[in-house]
Amino acid sequence: MTATFKTLDELDLTNKRVLLRADLNVPVADGKVSDATRIERLVPTIREIVKHDGKAILLSHFGRPKGKVDPEFSLEQVCAAIANETGHPVGFVATDWNDVSAAKQAIDDAPAGSVLVLENTRFHPGEEANNPELAQRMASLGDVYVNDAFSAAHRAHASTEALAHLLPAAAGTAMQAELEALEAGPGKPKKPVIAIVGGAKVSSKIDLLENLVTKVDGLVIGGGMANTFLHARGHGVGKSLAEKDSAETALRIMDKADKASCAIILPIDAVVARHFKADAPTRLYGVDAIDPDGMILDIGPSSVERIKGAIDEAHTIVWNGPMGAFEMNPFDAGTVAIAKYAAERTHAGKLISVAGGGDTVAALAHAGVKDAFTYVSTAGGAFPRMDGRQAPAGCRSAEEVRPDCTSERSHQP
Ligand code: 3PG
Repeated sequence: MTATFKTLDELDLTNKRVLLRADLNVPVADGKVSDATRIERLVPTIREIVKHDGKAILLSHFGRPKGKVDPEFSLEQVCAAIANETGHPVGFVATDWNDVSAAKQAIDDAPAGSVLVLENTRFHPGEEANNPELAQRMASLGDVYVNDAFSAAHRAHASTEALAHLLPAAAGTAMQAELEALEAGPGKPKKPVIAIVGGAKVSSKIDLLENLVTKVDGLVIGGGMANTFLHARGHGVGKSLAEKDSAETALRIMDKADKASCAIILPIDAVVARHFKADAPTRLYGVDAIDPDGMILDIGPSSVERIKGAIDEAHTIVWNGPMGAFEMNPFDAGTVAIAKYAAERTHAGKLISVAGGGDTVAALAHAGVKDAFTYVSTAGGAFPRMDGRQAPAGCRSAEEVRPDCTSERSHQP
């Protein structure tokens, strides 16, 4: 395949300070990284830099500290996992994003071939504002820029956008693999295609949903966000997580889907508990009979059958977001059943299955089918944009650079 973006081998890495925009926004539980998929994917790029005696200087956000220094979101806590995955010592540089002189000194003092992690870029408000002065300070810490953060590529932030224009830039190998897979997969999906979207909030995925309904033949909605749609349709959802303020948005999305002949598949039954805790007693209800004290925590077996039926009709599924509170027993059953069924259809050669997002990857791993999908992307919010085939800023070939890329990719949380 001919790459339509600049790749790592087009950059001179020898003895260079390489600012590597990674997505180190990984799940952490009890101070330990609980899913290292995003880090694993960075390893080839880091090794390539080190092989050329370059300094790999990792730059990333972590969580949403809202522009303030907050030790809870320090990137120091992921350094051990990076060292573990790369088999290389990793130094943490406690960066003050208002004054990077000490960080610059620490980088200069580090020997060639070092792997360093800078502090959370979102500790400065300029990161999410795509602030040019902050990008200049970042640029002063490197000679070249490599973007390997596909899962953050939908954010036009200082470290993903403004910075990319200030230094010679290229896609890292993980970014390259994601872009090539998208060109071959969701970019040109074999129809009929259904998207399965779950997770907690409609508000964080409005753009995604609006985009999807015009592109896919069916949209399965599960997880907490299904409750918002059920509420919008007039069903009582008891004490379930639901964004009642987004009811109008949900109605608009359903209307758009209708006009685009995209079937919306919502849960028809639900696993309901009184408390959100593991092994809480549960009852099964139709979605028109949820009692006022009930909390919907998973899709029910009739919904699972309905989604399996939709998968039977599809050639391609694109999945982002779990169907219920899968991290807690027994609310994982719906997600696990769908994951296993999609894996089975894929294995039988009947389905192209593409999945993305931290929770989704964790759910597939929990169901034991992470390796059984056709392609698993590291991207969360950046996925699955069926038209998301454009390489991020700074990675495009000169003839492809378009002046409007900033606004196009801008998508605030
Ligand atoms: C993700 O986890 O999807 C990316 O790291 C982007 O994170 P964000 O939604 O906080 O921008």
